[in-house]
Amino acid sequence: MKTKIKDVSIIEIPRVHDERGLLAVIEKKTIPFKIERVYYLYDVPSDAYRGGHAHKELYQLIVPLSGSFDVLIKDGNQSKIISLNKPHKGLLIVPGIWREIDNFSSGCVCLVLASSEYNESDYIRNFNDFLSFKEL
Ligand code: TYD
Repeated sequence: MKTKIKDVSIIEIPRVHDERGLLAVIEKKTIPFKIERVYYLYDVPSDAYRGGHAHKELYQLIVPLSGSFDVLIKDGNQSKIISLNKPHKGLLIVPGIWREIDNFSSGCVCLVLASSEYNESDYIRNFNDFLSFKEL
């Protein structure tokens, strides 16, 4: 799996703005995968650590609906920390990228759109297994 840090991108979610507030829309054309699952994290303690795994085939869009958190991504060669704090900017994570999420703000809500239903066999939860998967 040759995916790299540069394949992870911020997706700008289109918004409709008027005096009544903002309306953000994610449609088929906004993201490069078909949404098969939606889940969200909330009531997350500020010292929580989440993620700590990669996926073999799953694509995800991570959106900080409220508040902020940091996503550390690794491709086996390079790593990068991306702070997510705007509800109209989502992080597109492609398969074969290790992620760790921490530094959750109080009251934060993290929405995740995913390209398939939950499947534990798609997870790589051990970093050495991840490096083998990446053929590193
Ligand atoms: P996990 O994906 O490891 O959470 P995170 O990456 O946020 O730390 O999932 C935590 C637990 O929840 C794990 O036991 C699997 C379960 N789970 C489901 O049952 N369905 C789901 O859609 C997800 C994402 C997790």
